[in-house]
Amino acid sequence: MVSIFKMMRLNKFLAGAGVASRRKCDELIRDGKIVVNGKVVTELGVVINEKKDKVVYEGKAICLPSSFVYIKFNKPKGYTCTANDEKGRKTIYDLIDADERIFSIGRLDYDTEGLLLLTNDGDFANRVAHPRNGIEKEYRVNIEGEVKESELAVLRKGVVKDGERMPSAKVKWLSFENGVTKLSVVIDEGQNRQVRRMFEGIGREIKLLRRVRIGSVKLGGLKRGEYRDLTEDELNLLVRGK
Ligand code: URA
Repeated sequence: MVSIFKMMRLNKFLAGAGVASRRKCDELIRDGKIVVNGKVVTELGVVINEKKDKVVYEGKAICLPSSFVYIKFNKPKGYTCTANDEKGRKTIYDLIDADERIFSIGRLDYDTEGLLLLTNDGDFANRVAHPRNGIEKEYRVNIEGEVKESELAVLRKGVVKDGERMPSAKVKWLSFENGVTKLSVVIDEGQNRQVRRMFEGIGREIKLLRRVRIGSVKLGGLKRGEYRDLTEDELNLLVRGK
């Protein structure tokens, strides 16, 4: 059977992934610093399958940049993040020209809009989503009526909802106009419906929920339904947990 994947020497793969020069990569291999499919490899000249073999250096999976896709997307309200919605609702894949091997890192509710990251790189997704990395998510929240400072203090401390204390949040009052309070809410966990549940906990209903930032990646000028590749800077900062 002919393989559709590319075979290549380990040192070429590592250098291509930006680990170091090929000569330096040979040294790393000889020194037992490279792990292939769970085993330390010390022989030079080992050939790997770039798509199937898992190569790890300093605890991080190494891959050739061209094999991966990293997208930032402005999800409109009224779309689910699943590939197939059981209720037959519209999904983000109706708006993105990509197959479902590209998945979102975390999810936004059907009624939530804003910044969503998509990738086909599972390791990257795990790193960004893992609560251990504490990557902040910032939301704009519009609430009907005038929200009092005492209510915001409850959210900052961690509101008790269904007998459980929710994680604390950074909450900033932005404005009160035409009967609507606008707030900025920053959380560093990503529990299911976390922001909505926080406001349910203080008896307030959200009129609009928009994610505007993940770590240092901002929604910026992306229009609803638009997407683009992350820049190298955006990607590097996220990998470092910022
Ligand atoms: N919190 C929510 O409640 N919903 C989202 O979609 C994201 C964060």
